[in-house]
Amino acid sequence: MSFNKTKEVIEEGDVVILYLNPKSMHSLEVKAKVSNKKGEIVNNVFQTVYGALKVISLVGQKYGSKVKLTRGWAYVLQPTPELWTLTLPHRTQIVYSPDISLITYLMDLRPGSIIIETGTGSGSLSHSLIRTIRPHGYLYTFDFHEQRVSQVSAEFERHGLSDFVTVQKRDVYTEGFGENLKHTVDAVFLDLPHPWFAIKHAVVALKNTGGKLCSFSPCIEQVQRTCSTLTYEGFTDLSTYECLQREVNVQYRFLSVLDLESLKYKHTNDDVETKNEKGEKQEEKLLTAAHIHSLPGHTGFITVATLPPRILNKKTLIE
Ligand SMILES: C[S@@+](CC[C@H](N)C(=O)[O-])C[C@H]1O[C@@H](n2cnc3c(N)ncnc32)[C@H](O)[C@@H]1O
Repeated sequence: MSFNKTKEVIEEGDVVILYLNPKSMHSLEVKAKVSNKKGEIVNNVFQTVYGALKVISLVGQKYGSKVKLTRGWAYVLQPTPELWTLTLPHRTQIVYSPDISLITYLMDLRPGSIIIETGTGSGSLSHSLIRTIRPHGYLYTFDFHEQRVSQVSAEFERHGLSDFVTVQKRDVYTEGFGENLKHTVDAVFLDLPHPWFAIKHAVVALKNTGGKLCSFSPCIEQVQRTCSTLTYEGFTDLSTYECLQREVNVQYRFLSVLDLESLKYKHTNDDVETKNEKGEKQEEKLLTAAHIHSLPGHTGFITVATLPPRILNKKTLIE
């Protein structure tokens, strides 16, 4: 129950993040026993490169504190959607935090929003969506894969999030989102191989006041078909984004001191370095910022579109 409110002290049943270093984190459920590969019930001991941890010994420790492993130490952190995305058990490809932040902004999500998401997959995006829309909003999430539905449903329960989300097994291409969601949602998010088959159902689910549809696809051919269908179904303001995270390296470097005064009278940057009496170049230690050369690869294209308010009779726009 450590996802739904800020806690000071770890209790039995919490999910915690064991942080070894920025590239090595693990989510653990704090319980005394687990079943091993043979199905036997054994003590819950977690192995890391810095040695073992008896997981139940975390009960009573403060979140954020340093804990001893048999050959080193680690920090125990309270989970956030971002940390969950980095540590969750993958059943599918997932959406990562840089894309999630753009999706949340483009769909105008806020506390109180009612959203549809499909497919649920590993529940990476779902955890962030729930944090944004609660306490008064609601997430309806759909996937046609039975096992994924039951696994993610159990995770929502364990994380104390079940009051804000319903997971349903459904093939949204053929069955849509159901009669009970007709004209009730503010936004629809699609992470599907063929999103265009779900768009007509999204039109039915969006409120009469209109709303947003956002689709995440790795290939540009999927984006093209999605955009054609969105236009056909009456969506406007279509935009497609690619979110590339670029790191900036901040470091001290020795750089030549430039004589900027003399630069005013020259048409070239050459020979403006300050020299001492011996003719040696003068250098200064400066704090610099430069983009690192490698760029993380492509994840997916994010397409967003707006469904305008529906005109229900000739004169009135009905709420
Ligand atoms: C890439 S995963 C979604 C990952 C998810 N966004 C996350 O961040 O964890 C795509 C999911 O769509 C589901 N899916 C594919 N076609 C579907 C359909 N017609 N109806 C419902 N779910 C479908 C798959 O079972 C899969 O779990």
